[in-house]
Amino acid sequence: MSTSSVELLEGTTTSWRKESAVYLTERKSSLIGSHHTSWPLVLSSLLISFGALLTVFLLLLIRTPLPPPVDPYRLQVWEDGKRIDLLGRRLQQGISGGRILDSIKWLAKEVHVAGTAENEKLLNELGKLYSGWGYDVRFFDYSVLLSYPNYTQPNTIEVLDDESGDWLTVSTGFGTPKGPMELRNQESDVRSGVWWSAYSANGTVEGSIVYANYGRSADFDMLKNMKIEVRGRIVLMRFGGVSRAVKIAEAESRGAIGVVLFSDPLLSGSPSGNNSFPSDFSLPGDDVQRGGLLRAVGDPETPSLPSLPFVPRQNTKRLRKMGALPRIPATPVGSDVAARLMRLLDGTLTKEHRWQGGLSADYRLSGSRRFRLSVHSTLSRRPIRNIVATMRGVIEPDRWVMVGNHVDAWVKGAIDPATGTAAQLEVARVLADASILSHPRRSIVFCHWDAEEFGLIGSSEWIEEMGRVLDARAVAMINVDHVAGNASLQVKAVPLLYRVLSEAAQRVEQPDEIERENGRLTLLDSWKYHGGRSPIDGDRNLPHIGLPGGASDHQRFISLAGVPSVDIKMTSKGRSSYALYHSMHEVPWTVERFISSDGAALATIARFVTEATIRLANHVVVPFSAGDYAQALSQWLTLLHAKLEHLELHKYLSNYDLRFRALITASSKFREAAAAIDERAKEISLSKKGVSVPMLNAINDRLIRIERMFLDGQAFTSPLHKHLVFSPSKIATARTPFALLMETAQDWATAEQSEKESLLERMADSMARLTLAMQSAAEMLVLPKEE
Ligand SMILES: *[C@@H]1O[C@H](CO)[C@@H](O)[C@H](O)[C@H]1NC(C)=O
Ligand SMILES: *[C@@H]1O[C@H](CO)[C@@H](O)[C@H](O)[C@H]1NC(C)=O
Ligand SMILES: *[C@@H]1O[C@H](CO)[C@@H](O)[C@H](O)[C@H]1NC(C)=O
Ligand SMILES: *[C@@H]1O[C@H](CO)[C@@H](O)[C@H](O)[C@H]1NC(C)=O
Repeated sequence: MSTSSVELLEGTTTSWRKESAVYLTERKSSLIGSHHTSWPLVLSSLLISFGALLTVFLLLLIRTPLPPPVDPYRLQVWEDGKRIDLLGRRLQQGISGGRILDSIKWLAKEVHVAGTAENEKLLNELGKLYSGWGYDVRFFDYSVLLSYPNYTQPNTIEVLDDESGDWLTVSTGFGTPKGPMELRNQESDVRSGVWWSAYSANGTVEGSIVYANYGRSADFDMLKNMKIEVRGRIVLMRFGGVSRAVKIAEAESRGAIGVVLFSDPLLSGSPSGNNSFPSDFSLPGDDVQRGGLLRAVGDPETPSLPSLPFVPRQNTKRLRKMGALPRIPATPVGSDVAARLMRLLDGTLTKEHRWQGGLSADYRLSGSRRFRLSVHSTLSRRPIRNIVATMRGVIEPDRWVMVGNHVDAWVKGAIDPATGTAAQLEVARVLADASILSHPRRSIVFCHWDAEEFGLIGSSEWIEEMGRVLDARAVAMINVDHVAGNASLQVKAVPLLYRVLSEAAQRVEQPDEIERENGRLTLLDSWKYHGGRSPIDGDRNLPHIGLPGGASDHQRFISLAGVPSVDIKMTSKGRSSYALYHSMHEVPWTVERFISSDGAALATIARFVTEATIRLANHVVVPFSAGDYAQALSQWLTLLHAKLEHLELHKYLSNYDLRFRALITASSKFREAAAAIDERAKEISLSKKGVSVPMLNAINDRLIRIERMFLDGQAFTSPLHKHLVFSPSKIATARTPFALLMETAQDWATAEQSEKESLLERMADSMARLTLAMQSAAEMLVLPKEE
């Protein structure tokens, strides 16, 4: 529009304005003065004048820049770090190790397997506690496929006596309590000693035994190379190397008819076997690691959907056929029985050192004697219940900082999960106690999951039900599955949480005398000293933090929902193994004898979780480090590159250079955007500069969404995983970043010629999706310009 036309219009409107003003005054007087006014006329004249005013207004708008609209949100917000520090100190003081030990006593009083009345009772008691503390408590109920042994008829193994033709018992399938009276009392329950693996097929099989080491694919390959037949045999394997579920699947695929699992004393405690529990914190020869054999996560009957009444289900015959459930019977046995079995073998001695261990027997690969394995196992659809208890945030109630653990156990579960649950309860209690003081900025949500042991079922079903809501609201998930030691933290987390976790650990005192004498005064000091390398190259401020994999509920939050997650554990010095894992000896006596006699180590974990929680819930800018994520990604890309070149995949994948360069470019863009947002967050947190509410929301919306940018359901063949960086490619848990790409490359390298092409296609597809995810993360992070 030219100047002259503006002037022209301006002239016209001025006169219009005058006219209408006169008109209005006139009409007004007539309105007041006369009862004979015609209403339509008044209305139409009002409309005309309003229209005129509007035109004037719009024209003014075109002509002059308006002052910014009055904005009720122009209030500046400042970080109040001191208040958070003070709150943390107060809350820490309230935490009592004695109370945590007391909680463990009632949490681990009875055998409480998921789907049983005992576990339901426990969940309801937890719900009541939270209600009493003033939390808003919700139950989430599902009906899921679980599995049980026959406690009055345990699994047995017999050997045929060739001379008499009788079957002689080798394993009765259970252990008995021993040791001091207090310990025996706590262990006593007819169900405690029974050895079983959930989801095993029910049935009896007969055949000779082969020993397959850890039951990895490579182990079976070696047997094949040695011409040792697995088909039609019962396979003896030790725990370790790969998950239980993978061992059974591997044995099944090689034609085995049954499986016997044992914990090798070499790996589970004292090799001599005679100096074990209860004099030492190692697994004795007469008990086992219980556990699930599901080759899925979540209820196998409703993959990717919550197990609610309106959701259709797969039938179990089909599930076995598809391989989600084992098709052959399997049971664990104590190492005493394993040694007996080994001594009954008469085949080839294993020469491989890596196949031998601590059994008091020669390790043989096969034998001629005939065994009978009887497994009594029942599948049963049962109700389960999750508890979700919320302390509402006063400023940002729709942003959820979550703290969780499971409730169900294989036996009494005093370590796994009661140590974690009891510590979590103490955190919830002190927060509630100080609620007037603490009133968090964001909501704090305490979760207790059911049926975790069976295959992360309670948390999976909840995420499947609430996924869309979580996508909008979840900030982070802090998981404390169990505390099996007292010296140093063992943490697995996403890079976004590296800083807030080390900051939290720095604020917690190290209770261990010896650590303190050695100058390690805070939890962070010990963590840095014992933990190992910093995950960020060249950054010595960070302690060691692993990938957020592993078989506990946090894995579902990161892998399926893109919620930044951490799993917190504590280990004892020089002993990272927790040999009594899933055994009948996980009772309160054991916790006090070997982990925390005074509750101090458990209180330390509760303090650490408290500090991390209040920081995530109260810092005005969500304390995520985008820069660490960018840095970690670029380090992991270097690993990926090395792996692909090592496998020579780069020679076969078309346009490899172009594809990888795109990945690197996206990664640099992400790094730039991350640096910018971190810088802005730092200015705010150092209180140098306030921030307007809309800007603060813009920053937090971005930070909270970073992790979700890496979700891509279509990249995976299974609906159970979605995260391009942290999800495993198959059912096992990811042991490497970018497992989807790393494992596809590995599969390509070993595949038959006929399968190579489709694996290359998959590789190209995954690389493209990862590039896009990083590019999106960078794009999403860019902040609007500030005036
Ligand atoms: C368990 O075994 C006993 C025999 O000892 C049998 O009577 C009972 O029916 C079995 N229970 C189940 C659930 O199969
Ligand atoms: C193990 O037991 C044997 C006898 O049963 C004994 O001679 C040996 O000293 C014990 N070893 C340990 C480490 O206690
Ligand atoms: C398990 O198998 C036995 C036969 O080996 C059978 O008698 C029993 O009913 C089966 N139990 C279930 C729960 O299928
Ligand atoms: C810490 O753990 C070690 C190893 O199990 C144990 O010997 C020690 O008694 C524990 N400390 C406390 C205070 O319980």
